[in-house]
Amino acid sequence: MSGPPDRRLFAEPPARDPRFLVKEVWVEMDNLAEEDTGLNDEFLHRQMNEELNGLEIAARNLVDFPDADWELRMAIARQCWDEARHVAAFRRCYEARGGRIGAHPILNFQYRILTAIDTLIGRLAVQNRSFEAAGIDGIQEGIATARRQGEMDLVELLEAQLADEVQHVRYANDWLKRLTEAGGARAAFDLARAVAHANEAMQVVSGGATVRYPVAESLRREAGFSEGEIQAVKGFPPRV
Ligand SMILES: [Fe+2]
Ligand SMILES: [Fe+2]
Repeated sequence: MSGPPDRRLFAEPPARDPRFLVKEVWVEMDNLAEEDTGLNDEFLHRQMNEELNGLEIAARNLVDFPDADWELRMAIARQCWDEARHVAAFRRCYEARGGRIGAHPILNFQYRILTAIDTLIGRLAVQNRSFEAAGIDGIQEGIATARRQGEMDLVELLEAQLADEVQHVRYANDWLKRLTEAGGARAAFDLARAVAHANEAMQVVSGGATVRYPVAESLRREAGFSEGEIQAVKGFPPRV
C-alpha cells in the first residue's frame, strides 16, 4: 500500500507475532490462479486469520460496550467461542496438509475497519450482517468445491462453521431491529454511517476488485433477512 492507511477509516491493527507477514490491501496478498495447486492451502491460512479477526472484533465489542443489554452480550460472547473454534479448525486442516503458519501474507482489514466504528449497532451491521452474511454465500460454494475434490475433513469443517455463521447473522439481524426500534432516528443514522464507512474502507482494501458468490437465498432467509433484502443483494454487480 502506498503511504500509511487512512486513520479515519482504519483503527490500530491487532497484534500478531513475528511469524506473520501482515499486508494492508488485497493486491499484496498471494492471489493464486484458480488452477494453482497451492490455492487450497492459501485459502485455509487466510481464512484462519479472518476467523481470528472475527474473534477479536467480537471480543472488542464486549470490552468497548459494557452497558449493552446482557442478552446481547451473551450472544456476542457465544460468538467469541464459535470463532475461536473456527480458528483452531482451520489451523488443523491447514497443518494436516503440511501448511506452515506464516507461509502466506495475511490481512487484518476487518478488525481495523470494525474497531474504527464507534457504535455497537454499526459494528453488528457491518461485521455480522454484511461481512458474515457474505461469508455464508462463500462457505456454501466452498462446501460444494471441497466435496467435488473429496476433501471430506474440509466439508465437515465448513458445514459446522456454516451453522455457526448463520446464527451470528441471525442474532445480529434480530438485535439490529430491536436497537433501531429502541434508538429511533439516532440509531438508524449510526447504522447508515457505519455501513458507509465500511463501504469506503473496503474500496481502499479491494482496490475496486470484488469477489462475489451466488447468494445463498435459503440460508439468508434462515438468518433473518427479508425477501426484499435478499433480492437487493442479488442485484449487486456480478462476480469478477
Ligand atoms: Fe467464523
Ligand atoms: Fe462468525
